[in-house]
Amino acid sequence: MDYQLLKRQVEALIDAEADAIAQLANVTALLFNELQDTNWVGIYRKVGNELVLGPFQGKVACTRIAWNAGVCGTAAASGETLRIADVHAFDGHIACDAASNSELVIPIHSNGAVVAVLDLDSPSHNRFSATDQDGLVSIATLLTHACAALSD
Ligand code: SME
Repeated sequence: MDYQLLKRQVEALIDAEADAIAQLANVTALLFNELQDTNWVGIYRKVGNELVLGPFQGKVACTRIAWNAGVCGTAAASGETLRIADVHAFDGHIACDAASNSELVIPIHSNGAVVAVLDLDSPSHNRFSATDQDGLVSIATLLTHACAALSD
């Protein structure tokens, strides 16, 4: 994957539209369609003491995840990216789509606090490499402003 090109495409989408929901809707569509072998790509926002579903691509998903629950809540609470080769081996994994076998969850920080996570799922085991993680962590930083606007 050419992450430098993908990042420029994300920048272009964000520059083209100021509305946070419209930005994130198109960014998740871009990532879902450009990244091979993904079945779900989306945002969960911090709202109060839980994560609430935001713009995404994929099957209908859980709407609310408790802070610290599942892969998403664990990443949100720790502030650290979680790259899980086999979600079934992760204690507390929340199976929104039974097809998912590996997952990458990237916390998005604003002013030192986690305001959202970017969640990517794949039907393949060990889909996400360290290179994917680095590229997507860099892209996720572009989403800070939109995610901060949609969290509280
Ligand atoms: N698997 C996630 C839940 C979100 S879905 O994958 C879209 C988790 O364990 O937090």
